[in-house]
Amino acid sequence: MPCQRKRGIALDKDSGIVKNHPRNNDFNQQRIPALPVLYLAPLQGMTDRIYRNIFPLYFKGVDLAVAPFLSATKSVKPGSLLKDYSPDQNSGIPTIPQILSSGPDDFTRLANALFDIGYGEVNWNLGCPFRMVVKKGRGAGMLCFPERIEAFLEKAMSALKPKLSIKLRLGLKDPDDALLLLPIFNRFPLRELIIHPRTGAQMYEGNVDLDRFGKCLDLSQHGVVYNGDIVEAQTYERLAERFGSVHRWMIGRGLLGNPFLAEEIKFQTARPYAEKVQILRAFHDHLFAEYSQILSGPAHITNKMKEFWTYSGSFLKDREKIRKQINKTHHREAYIAAVRNIFEKLV
Ligand SMILES: Cc1cc2nc3c(=O)[nH]c(=O)nc-3n(C[C@H](O)[C@H](O)[C@H](O)COP(=O)(O)O)c2cc1C
Repeated sequence: MPCQRKRGIALDKDSGIVKNHPRNNDFNQQRIPALPVLYLAPLQGMTDRIYRNIFPLYFKGVDLAVAPFLSATKSVKPGSLLKDYSPDQNSGIPTIPQILSSGPDDFTRLANALFDIGYGEVNWNLGCPFRMVVKKGRGAGMLCFPERIEAFLEKAMSALKPKLSIKLRLGLKDPDDALLLLPIFNRFPLRELIIHPRTGAQMYEGNVDLDRFGKCLDLSQHGVVYNGDIVEAQTYERLAERFGSVHRWMIGRGLLGNPFLAEEIKFQTARPYAEKVQILRAFHDHLFAEYSQILSGPAHITNKMKEFWTYSGSFLKDREKIRKQINKTHHREAYIAAVRNIFEKLV
């Protein structure tokens, strides 16, 4: 991947670590990798296989993605869930599948099936805040039961073929749940923890709790990925300044809104507005063509594209007006005409 580093920054040949990074006065005390590792967050209904395949054809800087969760239950056979995961259909951003489950046997069966088709790592969802999920004691609904999590890991880890990472919130209602969980996580050979520092009860409202994220960082013996509310390069800069030991960052809504964000963070680039609009249009058209091939019925494709516009194009002028115009369309031809009109006015 082409990398436009700022002039005057020297890399250590063996470690790839910036020696004279502006934040790194003493190379031996504070070792910062040359570039942050950036993950596309899982967003159910949005960052699907097609999105992850097409995204890197237009945008730079994203290293990895975690896929939206697959639900592992007794009644669902792994085979029926794997059709979207065959490696030949996943040529885009390298992806870690995610599983939502509270049953170690169901989890392991699906995780091992994913391993058998080529996935060396899976992620366990301990963060989903939705009522139906929480009510069943899954996702964020499991965070207030440390003994269940411990029993799950005891059982699953002994039979699991792929490596395991965990994506979690701070707690269900109590943001200190995670502080009790970290000593448990430390006992297991996990790949890493991805922490979104909100509670499940908060959903996506209110502030991220950076003080508690810092406490988690202090307590964790595993590498920690930060996730939450990174919407511009400056947000990342502030967080990177504060949490010097974090080198991996997961971005969801900010990246969907402005897919140039990863390159802005990594390479300090700022493309002209008209160029960004043109690239976004090409990306949109490509997605539309691919979704059109798999979605039959005039409303399906428009509904899918309305989902795309939930976050997309946050940097566009008159963004709210655009969303309203799109939401008024109810069939394919009207949608195509509205989008053509919108993009023509933008440049
Ligand atoms: C519509 C939507 C769907 C989501 N689906 C998932 C999911 O399948 N798995 C998961 O771990 N997180 C899911 N999340 C949470 C995001 O991955 C991420 O943790 C959250 O949006 C905070 O990061 P952000 O502020 O960078 O968007 C979802 C969030 C939204 C808004």
